[in-house]
Amino acid sequence: MLFYAVVGNPVKHSKSPQIHKMFAKQTDQELQYTAVEIEDVDFDEFVKDFFAEGGGGLNVTVPFKEKAFALAVDCSERACLAKAVNTLFMDGDKKLCGDNTDGIGLVRDLTVNNKVELQGKRLLLLGAGGAARGALAALVSEQALSVTIANRTLSRAEQLRDEFGDLVELQVKSFDQLGSEQFDIIINATSSSLSGETLPIDPAVIADGCCCYDMMYGAQATPFLSWAKENGARLALDGLGMLVEQAAESFALWRGVRPDTTPVIEHLINSGE
Ligand code: ATR
Repeated sequence: MLFYAVVGNPVKHSKSPQIHKMFAKQTDQELQYTAVEIEDVDFDEFVKDFFAEGGGGLNVTVPFKEKAFALAVDCSERACLAKAVNTLFMDGDKKLCGDNTDGIGLVRDLTVNNKVELQGKRLLLLGAGGAARGALAALVSEQALSVTIANRTLSRAEQLRDEFGDLVELQVKSFDQLGSEQFDIIINATSSSLSGETLPIDPAVIADGCCCYDMMYGAQATPFLSWAKENGARLALDGLGMLVEQAAESFALWRGVRPDTTPVIEHLINSGE
């Protein structure tokens, strides 16, 4: 039986083992999937040993996605854009391959699960770190009317504009430069929700019918989603659906079959697990 794992730190509370076990059952695949917590210095050796021992594939989460990108010999275009890898596997020539399914997971959760069209919309991406980079790698091909990045540190947003500028026209702003320009879709890719902080943004940015999406999720609404609801957003969505969608894309890369994500998302929401 092939074995798979998610590697990160911390990773104890990861839902990935549960999600992949549900995928395996649904698609009649026999596999094992565990969560492995390791120290930073051990990452490269862990990956090499994992595949040398016959591992089928790895998901990589915080804080190792950049290390995984550096280690992979062959990376997909979207992983190269994101400069981060969340999915590792060996190809037929035993070459370590890296992909990044985070961005497509976000796009699928928005467009397929929540019927939020991106085409022709005014998009605001908050944050300019690894999560924003992964999201942007997929968002650039969605034909939004405009894409604006706002970040606490303006220079990091400017760097993203330099990197992605050939693919899409990006406006970059600091939070206070946002003013009251309105957006149809606002995606929080900052880690501010982790520290329980609300972003210093004028609620006037929320257009009529606006969808606010937090890439984080938790048992309670994140501060960003509470802010969105209080200020009249039509939709306030957390990142649980994105988590399941990125997992489904990884599963499809490894096993050649894409599981149905709807019952898995429903189970996670209803069971509160
Ligand atoms: P990740 O991989 O989760 O994106 P990261 O690369 O460290 O992590 O980036 C974190 C992002 O969240 C950055 O955009 C960061 O803003 P800065 O570039 O100004 O540091 C943003 N962030 C984190 N905490 C924040 C807070 N309390 N308020 C606003 N932005 C915050």
